[in-house]
Amino acid sequence: MSIRNCFVTPPRPRTEGLVQYLSVRPSSHSGSRSGRRVRASKTGPIDLRSDTVTQPSRQMRAAMATAEVGDDVLDGDPTMRELQERIATMLGAQAALWVPSGSMGNLIALTAHLRRGDAFLAPAGAHVLDAELGTAAWIAGGMPRPLQHDAGPGKISASAVLRAAGSPGPYYTLRTSLLCLENTHMAAGGVVTEVDEHAALAAAARRAGLKVHLDGARLWNASVALGLPPAALTVGVDTVQVCLSKGLGAPVGSVVAGSVEFVEEARRLRKMLGGGVRQGGVLAAAGLVALNNIERLAEDHERAARLAAGLADRGWRVTVPATNIVLLTPADLPSMLRQLEQAGVRAGPMGNQVRFVTHGDLTDDDIDTVLTRIGPVDNGISAPRRPA
Ligand SMILES: Cc1ncc(COP(=O)(O)O)c(C=O)c1O
Repeated sequence: MSIRNCFVTPPRPRTEGLVQYLSVRPSSHSGSRSGRRVRASKTGPIDLRSDTVTQPSRQMRAAMATAEVGDDVLDGDPTMRELQERIATMLGAQAALWVPSGSMGNLIALTAHLRRGDAFLAPAGAHVLDAELGTAAWIAGGMPRPLQHDAGPGKISASAVLRAAGSPGPYYTLRTSLLCLENTHMAAGGVVTEVDEHAALAAAARRAGLKVHLDGARLWNASVALGLPPAALTVGVDTVQVCLSKGLGAPVGSVVAGSVEFVEEARRLRKMLGGGVRQGGVLAAAGLVALNNIERLAEDHERAARLAAGLADRGWRVTVPATNIVLLTPADLPSMLRQLEQAGVRAGPMGNQVRFVTHGDLTDDDIDTVLTRIGPVDNGISAPRRPA
């Protein structure tokens, strides 16, 4: 049977897309204390495509408007400096540099670490392997070597790192020089690498003579899920990249951190890639407010758990979320995505699964509405699996 009937018909027809949402500007905030976008009505679509859809709050917009600024390409911007220093401390790094995006932060780090003729290791499905247009290879110059998840979904073992690093071969063979980790592992469903697992991987890389870069786009989520400071998850790494533009709500910005020497080189590479900005304090101010939202990520995790439990109760096969991402295995992905859209639930594909991401602009009611709109499985897609 087709899954056409799996969805509850939405209350009434609506225009596709986000046009039904009210984008609340600071000047028209009478109805919203937080300044977050407010949904025009419960009949509008609910967006679970990514945590990057989180809108900057009124407080964030006000901070941006009043930020103290300088020319960050010439001789620095005071608000940028404050953000960079705060994040370097949080990550246990000597120094840090603001960059426009997580992809640029990863690319800068990999370019600093890799030379042509090098290879790098990363867990299969890592963002640097699959979602950055291959820049790790054709700009940074490293041959990607994906490692299968031999230690559980999204997880690789220290012994796999040692095996893959191998030993130096003849002059014409690739030289494996870098391990690129990702915490949380997005494509595996926001899986958290725990402190001891992380430490073992970093130690194995060191033993094999590899540098370590950590793609920490959602390191904040891992730290909140574990109840540990982010610095506990950067032990043994050379560089780390963290994003401010996901569940934390900044409209733009990531930070790449490491040694003072690395950050000096990173600044040159950022300029090379066109990522130097002038009065960047306007953007850094958003980043400083975003840091206040880290604890709030726990709500996203609770809502992901609520969504997963509700979907499992309705017979859908879903992953148990460790953080804010739920993956659902449908019988027919394109048709499922189409029907979700028609039902007023926006989600995206992740491999052969549907990805739902909870974020700062959702409420518990939204999750319940999503569950009502999706409804129960009625085609026996697979054995239902209830999240533990
Ligand atoms: C794990 C991971 N790394 C890096 C990035 C890249 O971040 P950006 O979209 O800011 O380039 C993302 C984006 O979603 C991500 O999920």
